[in-house]
Amino acid sequence: MLATERSRPEAPIRNTLTLVFGLPYRAGVIYQHPLAFLLGLEGIALLRAFAGDHGREFVDARLAEVRALLEAGSELGDGATVGPITTVDGYREWAQLYDQQANQLIDLEQPAVREILDGLTPGTALDAACGTGRHASYLASLGHDVIGVDTSAQMLAKAAAKVREGRFVLADLHDLPLPDDHVDLVVCALALTHVPDLEPVLAEFVRVLRPGGHLVISDSRGLLADLGLPLVQTVDGDFGYMPTWSRHTSDYLQAALPLGLVVRRCEEPRRPYPLVDDNDERSVDADPPLAHVPGSPPNIWALHRWCTDAANAAYRGVPAAIIWHFQLAAS
Ligand SMILES: C[S@@+](CC[C@H](N)C(=O)[O-])C[C@H]1O[C@@H](n2cnc3c(N)ncnc32)[C@H](O)[C@@H]1O
Repeated sequence: MLATERSRPEAPIRNTLTLVFGLPYRAGVIYQHPLAFLLGLEGIALLRAFAGDHGREFVDARLAEVRALLEAGSELGDGATVGPITTVDGYREWAQLYDQQANQLIDLEQPAVREILDGLTPGTALDAACGTGRHASYLASLGHDVIGVDTSAQMLAKAAAKVREGRFVLADLHDLPLPDDHVDLVVCALALTHVPDLEPVLAEFVRVLRPGGHLVISDSRGLLADLGLPLVQTVDGDFGYMPTWSRHTSDYLQAALPLGLVVRRCEEPRRPYPLVDDNDERSVDADPPLAHVPGSPPNIWALHRWCTDAANAAYRGVPAAIIWHFQLAAS
């Protein structure tokens, strides 16, 4: 069932716009230059060598590659200036492809989340920012009564089609359309990166959770841990990016612990190594197989192949996600 009307239909969207556009930080126009991205990877690789991870041969190869990249600059094209878009606009476009695209982040996140969910007693479960219903459908298969909320009508429609027995509502994480103490479990997957401040959202989860209830969170860790990756989308034929926030582990704890949430488990799955394998066409990095188009926002996954060794060194051991299992203290 898909419920797109609520008693307070304006609140969610107004909140999203205010939060995204009301902040000077990461809410302005950004400039993405393909050469800047590649030289940045070389720089991280060189810093790792400087710290002792690699020897002289590696450093010499990087310096030679930097010179070659600088000479190849015109082949890569100019940078692109990209303005912010709301998650509502971004996911309206992404909804059509979301379930079809290869997604390394989901490959890393899903087993860890499912392992936690498998250990919980079925009850009433909220999938907060449910998207196309990836976790909602799994929760339903485990015997939970599922409620899903999301601010994207298009993502929500996919979820409703996938989980016929669920109840899906267009709503914002900051303003859940549920009474206090209503659910046994809240799952919020890969969405908190879109909210600039964790505390009000976690407080809203705690409000709807029954005492003793469970909160399972997964969140992306950005491109390189706390270095966030703006998600660039094509919207109405133009480009825009959805701002993201990447956090330190302590940021989650500082928001969660004062609310009475107790940590049951925490995982930070690492990106595979090597991330880019030139000899393997099925390397995770081969998807999406789009080329970088000069003048467009850089397709970073395609660009990695310009500096495979630097990319692999830069991403080595870097967590792609963080997964939390919290439990609300019984009152
Ligand atoms: C990367 S998708 C994840 C979807 C799903 N949870 C999953 O893991 O497959 C992020 C989702 O968060 C939703 N979202 C972002 N900000 C939101 C907010 N403030 N309130 C509700 N949903 C939001 C988006 O519309 C999108 O569907």
